[in-house]
Formats: sequence, C-alpha cells, structure tokens
Amino acid sequence: MSHHELHGEVYYPSEQVVQNANVQNIDELYQWAYEHPLEFWEQRAKEYEWYSKWDKVLDDSNKPFFKWFTNAQVNIVHNALDRHQDTERKNKIAYYWEGEPGDSREITYGELYGEVNQFANVLKSLGVVKGDRVTIYMGRIPEIVVAMLACAKLGAIHSVVFGGFSVPALAGRIDDSQSKVLITQDGNWLNGKVIELKKIADEAVAQSPSIEHVVVVKRVGNNVNWNAARDVWYHEAMETASAECETEKLDAETPLYILYTSGSTGKPKAILHTHGGYMVGTATTLKYVFDIQENDRWWCAADPGWVTGHSYIVYAPLILGATSFMYEGAPMFPAPDRWWSLIDKYKLTILYTAPTAIRAFMRQGEAHPAKHDLSSLRLLGSVGEPINPEAWRWYFKHIGHEKCPIMDTWWQTETGAFMITPVPALPLKPGSGTKPFFTYEADVVNEVGESVAANEEGYLVLKRPWPSMLRTLYGDDERYERLYWGKYPGMYLAGDSARRDEDGYFWIIGRVDDVLNVSGHRLGTAEVESALVSNAAVAEAAVIGLPHEIKGQGIHAFVLLRAGYQESEQLEKDLVQHVANVLSPIAKPEKIYFMAKLPKTRSGKIMRRVLKARAQGLPEGDTSTLEE
Ligand code: WTA
Repeated sequence: MSHHELHGEVYYPSEQVVQNANVQNIDELYQWAYEHPLEFWEQRAKEYEWYSKWDKVLDDSNKPFFKWFTNAQVNIVHNALDRHQDTERKNKIAYYWEGEPGDSREITYGELYGEVNQFANVLKSLGVVKGDRVTIYMGRIPEIVVAMLACAKLGAIHSVVFGGFSVPALAGRIDDSQSKVLITQDGNWLNGKVIELKKIADEAVAQSPSIEHVVVVKRVGNNVNWNAARDVWYHEAMETASAECETEKLDAETPLYILYTSGSTGKPKAILHTHGGYMVGTATTLKYVFDIQENDRWWCAADPGWVTGHSYIVYAPLILGATSFMYEGAPMFPAPDRWWSLIDKYKLTILYTAPTAIRAFMRQGEAHPAKHDLSSLRLLGSVGEPINPEAWRWYFKHIGHEKCPIMDTWWQTETGAFMITPVPALPLKPGSGTKPFFTYEADVVNEVGESVAANEEGYLVLKRPWPSMLRTLYGDDERYERLYWGKYPGMYLAGDSARRDEDGYFWIIGRVDDVLNVSGHRLGTAEVESALVSNAAVAEAAVIGLPHEIKGQGIHAFVLLRAGYQESEQLEKDLVQHVANVLSPIAKPEKIYFMAKLPKTRSGKIMRRVLKARAQGLPEGDTSTLEE
C-alpha cells in the first residue's frame, strides 16, 4: 500500500493487518463514500434485515430534525437476536462474562434470545407498552443487556442510569423521563465491596411517583427492603414467563432509548436515539473500525450505563453476531493485573478502553501485563478523552506488543457511534483520532463559522447528518435545535475544540463548554455546583477542571460559605462526601477552596476562566468584564 509522506510521529499498519481488514482500498473508499454518502449508507443498511424497505435514505426536509430510512419497518432487536436464530450463530457465545469475585457465565445467542423474550413478557405483564419509558439502574451483569433488549423488543424506551449515580441524580432522571418501571439489582460488586443499588433505588423511587414497579435482579444476596405491592424479583417472574415473544415491528424512526448526559446547565440532556439509523451506524462503525471477524472475542471495557456500553457492548456486537466479553468489577481488583489475566484466560482479541484506565495501569508498571500472555490481542482501542502520546506508546508497547494498531475513536453520546476514527489500515499518529469516518465531513471553524488554517485551533463541527445521530433531546426540541445547530446554521456543534494538521488528521483538544471530563466521565460544572449549593453550609460555588495525572481532569471547587459557617478541614471532607451522596462518587472534588468572594462579571456570572487561570498561575486573559 502506498502512502504519501505524513508529518510527525507516524505508525504504519503491518501488511497482515491491512490484508485481514474488513475494508480494503481505503483511499478509494474514503473518496467514493465522501462523494456518495447516501449510496454508502444505503448499501450498509442492506446488510441488515428490515420488515419493509425505506422510501428515502435521508429526509432532510425539516432540518435539523433529520430522518433516516423513512417509512421503513424494523426493530434493532430483530437484527441483534432474532435473525441469528436460524443460523449457526444460535449456538455461538454472545457473552463471556466474569464477575468480580471470579464467578463466570457463558451465554449463547440462543439463550440470550430466550431470556430476552421471557423478560419482555415480564415487562408486558407489568403493563409496559410501546413508547413507555423504563429506567435501568444496574451494574455490569448480563441481565442489564437482557433488560435493554427486552424494552427495545416491545418498542419501549430504555433510560439507563449509570450505577455510580446517587439518589437525587437517579430520581431526577426517572422523573424527567416519567418512567413506569425501574429495573435494578440487590447489590453490585465493586472493589470487593457491595454497592447497595436496591437501597439507592428505593430512596429514589420514594421521590419519583411515576414508577409503578421495581424489578430486582438478585446478584449479590445482600438484604433488601421489600415492598410486595411494587417490587418483583427477576428470577421469580422469569420462572413463569414464556420464552416466545413477538418482536414489535416499528417505524425506523421509533425512539430506542434516551440517555442522559451533561451539558452546560445543571439539568442533564436526554439524548434520544432511534431504531433504524442507530442500528446501521453502530454496526457499520464496529465492523469497519474494529474489523470484527467471526472468531473475534471483543472486549469493550466500558459500562453499559454510558453510551460506549450502549453502542459497543450491547447493540453493535450483537447485530454483527460477535462474541463479546464483559467483566463486572473494578479493574485493579484484587490486584493490578486483573485485566491482563482476563485477556489471557479468555484469549480476547480486541480491547477497547479509555485513556484514564491506561494511565492508571501505566502507573502500576509494565510488570503486571508482562506476567500474562497477551498474544491473543490483535487490535486496541481508546475512547473518552484525548489520549496523551505517552500513554498511547505505553499501550502500544506493553499491551499490544507493537503489533496492534490503536483505534482512537472520537465520538459522543449525541453521535451514537464513532465519528472521527481510524480504520485498521490507516497510518496512525499517537494522540490523533485521525479522520472522519466514511461519508462524514468534519471541520474546525472560528467564532464566525469559517474554516481555520491547518494546525489552528477552533470549534469542531460536523457538516453532514449521519444515521446514528441524536434525533432530539427528549421532550425539548427547542433546546436540541439551539444547542447543537444554533451557533452556525447547517453545522452540528460538537462542543469540543480541535485542530486539523497538514495531513488532514484531527487532534481533539477538549471541551469548550462547561463540561468536565473526569476519568472519561462527562460531568457538568453546573451539576457539581448545584450539588455543593444543596449543602446548608454553602452559599455559592464555582467548579473548574484542572489537569490530573490519571483522571485527565480533576474537579476543583471554590465555595462561599453561608453566614455562621466556618471553614475547616472537616467541612471540606463533608462537602466532598456531600457531592458523592447527591450526585456521584465520580464527581468528588479533589480540593475545596473556601473563598471570601468569587470573580464575577458585572452581570453576576461567575468567571470560571479566571479561577482556572489563577489556580494554574497563568495570565487571566481579558478581565474587562470582571466586576471591580
Ligand atoms: C470526549 C463518549 C478525544 C470529547 C463516547 C467528547 C474524546 C466527549 C474522545 C463525549 C477521543 C470522547 N478523543 N476526546 N477519542 N472520545 N471524547 O458523550 O470531549 O460521554 O465531546 O461520549 O468526550 O463524551 P460522551
């Protein structure tokens, strides 16, 4: 394969990687797909099964409310499960699963199909019908996959809330979606301890009157409070449920799920995805980027509670009929080599994880991976934040043994699937997500929406619609239009800053809005601030992200106390714990600074930028709007 000279540190794929790849002749394909986007996606859509065909691949008559595969009838679950049942995939392993304590399970496509049917019947018996919302609050156990698919099978909309969120965060999300049923588990193993999910769920449901029933999976066996009129044990309900259940035939644009993510305000955004386009987008990207083959053992180490888990643990691998691996617990439990032992034990071929995990392993040293045979690996992946070149090289050398290309995939909850990403045959540059996926057009623009020159920083935008795009914010079309399409007409504003180099490779710099990226988790400054202000001691709070060696960003909070409260080390500890209690342990501030006043504009807006500059000893920039 010939490449023109690329600039900087470049890693070329081996002949073997190129020859094995699902996509060949990538230069021609990039060119052709860019010029024929709708033909490209129509061809991809034909690789899957539809109950009836579309009239149009894309309907853009009501921008930015795009529709894909209009008037087609489909169900993503038909493609994830039903269609494999008359093939040899019926007996293929869909998931190898290992629990944190070391217990394990294997689930075939046939078994998963039966269990999803049964659980869909359970949901039906609890009154769930097409269009209803169902909240799922669980850890990484196979039943979370069953729960999601059972909802989708019926045309109900799942709303998965990450199991690390606390009571008010869960209650707020249930309330916003007006969910009818909550699916949870007794407890969840994490670092050898039990997180009592049912207890948190009980407290949340006490504040969320829309919930009629709570289905509880028994995972740990811890004691739980029981409300016999409301609560249902998963295993008991399943005993009598039939394993036959018809999959709802749905319009392609039927909502599949909502997933809450952080934005610039305290109220999380309910991203809405649909059956048809999301199905084609997620499956195609996984097939092309991670080159999924029939005998692969794919490990996406994310949590199903985030979009990465939705798209690449649950939907895309199942649609492709792939074998996945899922591990329940903490990466370093009981020792820092747990992950490497799992790769060896299950002979996993692809690992997809986040830079924060890689940095944490890097700190533990290469002796841990060196103890295990990692030669089954053939590809690696990264997602969630920019990967620093040092971590990239460590991952490449000590995990991939210099033979596994690293797919650094840039995307968002909103995009549903990879947007800027390599494919295995593309030369890589550590720290760059390389190029927009086939058909996509990304750009870096200035304040007025003009493309900037090579290597100049600007706003990252996407200039064409894509099949797995969010359709709206659930219940808030106006906010969707304003936030994503309002700044530059015709361009999707990603909220990230980026630059594009002289070879057309994109380098993501970070968020430009008030969104923090802590260990790859998206959190809004306003969410953390409102958590702090909900404490009786706090009058006002401002939160910023500062560089953190492992987490990428660490949260630093500046607070003004109410009269009658004194700053103290104890109060600092209490406030940190308070944030964990009302939002999530992942949102705990690294440090709290007690302030006499906060820098504000004359109109009263807190200038976080000034706090950030001061905390890092940097120039404060334009402070002309600063009060006094
Ligand atoms: C960041 C996660 C650089 C980015 C899939 C984006 C990345 C936000 C990358 C979305 C990457 C994600 N390189 N930055 N490969 N992947 N990001 O919605 O700031 O949880 O806007 O989706 O994570 O986070 P979200």
